[in-house]
Formats: sequence, structure tokens, C-alpha cells
Amino acid sequence: MQDLMQKIKSLCKRRGFIFQGSDIYGGLANTWDYGPKGAQLRKNIKDSWWKQAVEDRQDVVGLDGGILMNKKVWEASGHATGFTDPLVEDVETHKRYRADHLIEENLDVSAEGMSLEEMDETIKENDIISPDGNELTEPKLFNLMFETSIGPTSDKGEKTYLRPETAQAIFVNFKNVLDTSRQKLPFGIAQIGKAFRNEITPGNFIFRTLEFEQMEVEYFLKEENWEQEFENWEQWMTDWAEGIGLDMEKLHKVEVPDEESAHYAKRTIDFEFSFPFGQDEMWGLAYRTDYDLKNHQEESGEKLVYPDPHDNSKKITPHVVEPSLGVDRTLLALLVSAYDEEEVDGNERTVLRFTPQMAPNQVAVFPLMRKEKLQGLAKEVFEDIKKDFRVEYDERGSIGKRYRRQDEVGTPYCITVDFDSLDDQAVTVRDRDSMEQDRVQIENLQEHLQEKIDNYSQ
Ligand code: GAP
Repeated sequence: MQDLMQKIKSLCKRRGFIFQGSDIYGGLANTWDYGPKGAQLRKNIKDSWWKQAVEDRQDVVGLDGGILMNKKVWEASGHATGFTDPLVEDVETHKRYRADHLIEENLDVSAEGMSLEEMDETIKENDIISPDGNELTEPKLFNLMFETSIGPTSDKGEKTYLRPETAQAIFVNFKNVLDTSRQKLPFGIAQIGKAFRNEITPGNFIFRTLEFEQMEVEYFLKEENWEQEFENWEQWMTDWAEGIGLDMEKLHKVEVPDEESAHYAKRTIDFEFSFPFGQDEMWGLAYRTDYDLKNHQEESGEKLVYPDPHDNSKKITPHVVEPSLGVDRTLLALLVSAYDEEEVDGNERTVLRFTPQMAPNQVAVFPLMRKEKLQGLAKEVFEDIKKDFRVEYDERGSIGKRYRRQDEVGTPYCITVDFDSLDDQAVTVRDRDSMEQDRVQIENLQEHLQEKIDNYSQ
């Protein structure tokens, strides 16, 4: 299975999906840059989520909050003190490791719920050493937030953090949004944006990175309704997963035990996915109670309450159900779901079987050869259909090589303009999955492609 991961990584580099961050300077661990195809795929994921979570719903509105926030936000949210990992340091190399992970790897036991003292004792009693063979320091709690300072000099500047989750901008803007959007409970505020975590454990490609993007909804509700709304969002996430083309056999919903849940959550379900390196969390669904609004109310002195429409004297602090989805892990799961190899006429073909909605290009247009008349007509076709589809024009290399290239980036339909096209005004449309070719009149192309996209099934 790790072999599959290598193949996906190599395809991502070869075809312009994902590059090592700061590549020409030797890279920077756990950072990645998305190339032309990866950037489009990310956009398609986010567009689909935003359309279905925000635009298609009357009860959810959007927000685009800042990455930098007053540090009091992180004190109130509990991240300043509670968002930590237990780390030990190699006394020789000074490399840091997760103490709980070292215990689990060395002893094949769970370190969940162990105190720092218990971890220390376990490490000492079992002579656990660092992967480089050196002794380890006592475990210490290490905060995952990246610190930064605002102002001309770092020593005099005002300290704050890069946000480790997008959610807090939503809680902090609860009153602003409520006052301006006049939503009634239950209602949600949704946001897509970057988050940052100083992760110590290495990443499995884009699975665990320092900088990543989240798509989150904070769904505000009356306490007595949380179970029903939790179920509704669980179903919503499942339907969205299926709709974007994730392999549903690789999706597993796992109830997270209390001691493993985040400090704010009363119930959590992880949507795990069978990645090539093992089954791990792709998304989370949490019941955050009224933890965040209450804490921000206390810390800021602002009333973060919802007036009961039937009784103005009654003001309640809404509870919250939070579907939280990572863009990067979704993208990795999509790549794993879509990757396929097959033998065709004695040759191996690699295909990404993305749905037409997710595929970076929906259509590619080729002139059969680099002849002016063919190029002219192919460009006309491109100009015509680009109004309705994501189209790439490609005239480099043999037709076989162009098909291979488009198969590897997951383009569902390829159109070839040949010499006959100049006479009959028809082109060949090749289907990525069946590899069947249809001859279609140019004037009917838009309709033909739309019908294929609408009727696409995996
Ligand atoms: N607001 C809730 C929250 O942040 P989380 O489980 O810590 O919960 C939610 O993160 C999602 O964000 C994860 O399920 C995952 O998709 C993504 N995520 C978290 N840390 C990540 C990292 N270091 N690299 C990539 N994605 C990450």
C-alpha cells in the first residue's frame, strides 16, 4: 500500500498537482505547494462544499475571518493552555518526538490518557530511546500554535498566534452575524480558510502539514436539539463524501472516546479514511456544547446570546455542532479513491477517475497535428465550449501521449479535431473510462458533453 502512496506522490509531482514547498531551496519539511492541477482540484473541492453547505441552504451563512486575531481569543478558547502535545527531546540531536507515539510504537500499547509523569515512568522503565539511539528528556507539553508578533520588533511587538482552527473567528463574530443576518436558531456560520499547527510528527505527504485549509460550520442550536442536529450533519457529511466521488468502502465513522476528544468536545465522530499508510482521521464532527460562546462572553464581556423570539426576557447561549473538514485530507482521499491502473493492449494505463465535477479539466481539445487549419478549428472549439466547461487546449506530442497525460490528470473527455473535421464539422469525443470514441457534430458538442457529465456514474 505504501507503494500506492509513492505512485500517487510521483504522479502529483509529474503532472503538476503537488510540489514540495520551497523546492529549489531543498524544501521545508511538511510543507507542500499545489501546482496548476492541484490548485484547480482544491478549488473544486471548496466550491462544492461552499455550494452545498452555504449557498444551497437557507440556514447557513458564510464568513471570511482573519488568520490573525487578538491573543485573548486563544486564551478564551483554551488553545493557549490546552492545545498541546507531550514531547520528549533527544539529548544529543535535540530532535523532538511525541512521547505518546514513541511509547505506542515501542510497546504496542495505547498511551491515551497517560499523564506526563506516567509517560516519563513508562519511558524510563522500558528503556525507550530516541530513533537515533540516544537518551530522551522528560516529556513536556508543547503548544501546537505558531507564535508571531505584531509590530516593528519581535521583542516589543504584541504577541499572538496564527490560528490553529478557523472556528474561533466564527464564535467571535457570532453577534455581528446574528445582528446583520437575522438568522433564527438553528443556524450555521460557515468558513473556509487556512489554519496552522506546529506539528512535530512527520506528515505522510499532505496528510499532516504545518499549514492546511479547513472547511468548517459552527451550527448554533438549542441544547435539547443537539443529538438530532448531530445526526443531520453526520448524514450531510456522508452524502457530500459520496457526491464528490470518495471511495465509500474506505470511509469509516469512528466514535472518539472522551479521553481522546478535543478539550471542548462532548461527543466526536471521526470520519476516517483508509489511506495507503493506514486508516486515519479525514474529518471530524463534534458537539462543542456552549463551551466557546460562554468562554468568549466571559473573557470579552460581550453578550453572546440568542434572544428567545417568544420571550424577550429570555436569552440563551446556543450550543454548537461542528462539522470540520480538511481540504488537504479530502484532496488526498480523492486522489486515493480516483487512482487506477489497467492494462490496455499490452500497455499500462494510469488513470485518475475523478468525477467531472472534481476533475481539474473536464474536457481537453486537441488538433490531431500541428497544422494551421486543424489548430484553427480546435481553438474555435476550445473558445466555444470553455464557456460551459473547464477546458484545456493541448497540441504537444502524439495523440497517444496527450491521451495518457489527460488520463493521468483525470480529464473525463478528450476532443480531437482531425482532417475530416474540416469537411464534416464533426469531432471525435473520447471517454476516459470506457475509452470509447463518438463522432459528434461541433454544433451539438455542448449538449453532448453536458449530457455525459449529467449522467456520469462511477
Ligand atoms: N475546529 C475543529 C478542529 O480544528 P481538528 O480535528 O483538530 O478539529 C479538523 O481538525 C480537520 O482539520 C481534521 O479532521 C483534518 O481534516 C484537518 N487537519 C487538522 N490538522 C491537520 C494537519 N496538521 N494537516 C492537515 N490537515 C489537518
